[in-house]
Amino acid sequence: MVSKINTLLARRTRGHALEQAFYTDPEVFQADLESIFYREWLFAAAACELEKAGSYVSHKVGEYRVIIIRGADGQIRAFHNTCRHRGSILCKAAKGHVPKLVCPYHQWTYELDGSLMWARDMGPDFNPKDHGLKTVHCREIAGLIYICLADDAPDFDAYANRVGPYLEPHDLSNAKVAYESTIVENGNWKLVWENNRECYHCGGNHPSLCRTYPDDPSVTGVGEGGETPDHLQAHFDRCEAAGLPANFHLSEDGQYRVARMPLKEGAESYTMDGKAAVRRWLGRVPFADAGALLQFHYPTTWNHFMTDHSIVFRVTPISPTETEVTTKWLVHKDAVEGVDYDLKRLTEVWVATNDEDREVVEDNQMGINSPSYVPGPYSPIQESGVLQFVDWYCETIADRQEPQPLAAE
Ligand code: FES
Ligand SMILES: [Fe+2]
Repeated sequence: MVSKINTLLARRTRGHALEQAFYTDPEVFQADLESIFYREWLFAAAACELEKAGSYVSHKVGEYRVIIIRGADGQIRAFHNTCRHRGSILCKAAKGHVPKLVCPYHQWTYELDGSLMWARDMGPDFNPKDHGLKTVHCREIAGLIYICLADDAPDFDAYANRVGPYLEPHDLSNAKVAYESTIVENGNWKLVWENNRECYHCGGNHPSLCRTYPDDPSVTGVGEGGETPDHLQAHFDRCEAAGLPANFHLSEDGQYRVARMPLKEGAESYTMDGKAAVRRWLGRVPFADAGALLQFHYPTTWNHFMTDHSIVFRVTPISPTETEVTTKWLVHKDAVEGVDYDLKRLTEVWVATNDEDREVVEDNQMGINSPSYVPGPYSPIQESGVLQFVDWYCETIADRQEPQPLAAE
């Protein structure tokens, strides 16, 4: 007998939305966690959030809780957030700063590198070396931290080598978080991604984003089968000539993409008037109208890196019909609020856009919940990115389903 997922995949009509179970069924959701989120590299945080030794952030993915912490040696490491005594959670706060990691239950005390330093009255045979925190794979790429929950993590180097040079001019390690927002969208995580991967909905839903972001599918859909228009190639060439990697690249397996896309004529950043939001630029991009480096990496992150600031997004599934989206606005660490930037002006376009996206995703989920829902066709002109995501999802999850044993007669 084939798995439930493979039965669903076998009757999929490619080029159409997925059927209801993919967006509602707890078994499919569990398979998404086990086959994708527990196995892939996941964007977790910006390195600049971990300012000094002992700075940490915690993150929850499915049933896993993880602490990401900077050690006394400056290195960032990730650990399972569960004590090696009787398993209590160690850090409950979303972020903070600690000299050591002390379990709240019986005060077992761990060094910042995860080794167990102290445990009271454990007897003469107890060896602290056997009870260090369990590590989680952790890699940094140009100021962005990724983790992987699998025992054997997939290759990260190809991604880091390809995307690192695009990110490097943005100097994210010298950033600070000017503002952070976390919203929960009442929709399946795949609907959040499908919505992100097209701008068919932009004109009807994003009045402030559309002031600066071109919703022209010949630009947004480039590389998904479309030709590169001349004006876009001219933009790539101008950036590349200035030492800024810009050309469109989609990985062979479809998991990640980078491209430095122009904003609308004359626009510099995602603001209501299109001008830069921050006077002190983050990074070394030499001209204001270099557009936005658009980068995504399935299943957790899409990002916009501009000349003056950067915005990073993190997607975390909560339940079959709930997804957390965390957005962080990164500015130069020495930029001063009220002097170099105004917080409302910096954030208003994407705060509004996120809320508009939340609403369309929730509307989409509500409609899909109806027994009358039938998957409809994607626009070949406007929704090639959605198809690209859905193909990646279907191929990735299909490869990882074990055939089920035949049920006894
Ligand atoms: S559970 Fe952590 S010290 Fe006991
Ligand atoms: Fe949107």
